[in-house]
Amino acid sequence: MSDGDLRIGFVGCGGIGNHHLKVWESIPGAKVVAVCDNQPERAARAGEEHGAEVFTDMVEMLARADVEAVDICTPSGLHAEQGIAALESGRHVLVEKPIDIDLAKIDRLIDTADARNLKLSCIFQYRFSPEIQEARRQIQDGRLGRLLSCSTYVKWFRKQDYYSADAWRGTWALDGGCLANQGVHSLDQMTWMAGPVAEVEYAHIETVERDIEAETFGIAVVRFENGARGVVEGTTNCYPGFPTRTQIFGTKGSAEFDGNTVKSFKVEGEEIDLASSKPKDGDASSDPMALGLGGHAAQMLDFVQAIRTGRPVLCDGRSARVPVDCLNKIYRKAGVTGKIGA
Ligand SMILES: NC(=O)c1ccc[n+]([C@@H]2O[C@H](COP(=O)([O-])OP(=O)(O)OC[C@H]3O[C@@H](n4cnc5c(N)ncnc54)[C@H](O)[C@@H]3O)[C@@H](O)[C@H]2O)c1
Repeated sequence: MSDGDLRIGFVGCGGIGNHHLKVWESIPGAKVVAVCDNQPERAARAGEEHGAEVFTDMVEMLARADVEAVDICTPSGLHAEQGIAALESGRHVLVEKPIDIDLAKIDRLIDTADARNLKLSCIFQYRFSPEIQEARRQIQDGRLGRLLSCSTYVKWFRKQDYYSADAWRGTWALDGGCLANQGVHSLDQMTWMAGPVAEVEYAHIETVERDIEAETFGIAVVRFENGARGVVEGTTNCYPGFPTRTQIFGTKGSAEFDGNTVKSFKVEGEEIDLASSKPKDGDASSDPMALGLGGHAAQMLDFVQAIRTGRPVLCDGRSARVPVDCLNKIYRKAGVTGKIGA
């Protein structure tokens, strides 16, 4: 560690948390100095593996004066509350997706970051693929013409064991169902490409053959603010799990994406095709831990550099709110009446 390194306090040493901790080791200009998990053995193991001080309570970790930023990898419904506590103690915040599931809490999180002039970034690693960024630039420049449709499909497979292993999974308070957890990447890709959703015209959700509160299957028809329409279909019931698909077309052409890769990008009468020749960086359709880490590394570097230079982060709180707004509109249209988020 050098004197100029950004000192990070880390919260949530579970599945994705351990991926983050590995990736932080490779990020220049940053060092995890403290780790926290309310399961003491998880915190202890992470502290030993990464040479960091161990905490089981985030507030105690925040008392360590040299921590400049906090990385949060806890259950989704805790993100805003923990992010607000970290921001209020003067720390920048990086938080896993979704930024939270409760829109009112997300607004308080964004307001706190603004009021304190601190960075707030939410992990959406697919946005950090250069070819996905180029495709978005071209779409925003109007290369596909007037957008008519953008649809997204996430047909994945998770057994009951996956849900039973951690009590927060599939609960309305802390997670939501397949659209919120697995599907939020796809809702983000859809809305990052086609813009915010104005209205959900139809939605149906169902819990099928899994003992959880929230949905394992959901389908919706959406209208974007720009007038385009789209279909959202998500499930964790689909054996063996397919790659995700986001498909967009306008009056001049079409594009198709799978997570961080461009499968096709074609404009009528032009020779352009941005389709990737690279294999995809990881695919969690059947296995939650089969993740590529390239997008996370790029986003963590973006976070560190934004703090050091004062420039904006690429994925800030407001843009990470957009897919959660779409998710909440789907849930409301499907008849979910209670509170989403703790
Ligand atoms: N970007 C991605 O592709 C990706 C992939 C997987 C998970 N995620 C997101 O990451 C988050 C965590 O998911 P996971 O699969 O790693 O879950 P997990 O259950 O494996 O890990 C969460 C960890 O947080 C700890 N924790 C819970 N409450 C805490 C508290 N109050 N204080 C400190 N620690 C606490 C738990 O003990 C656990 O170790 C979720 O929001 C999920 O949506 C993102």
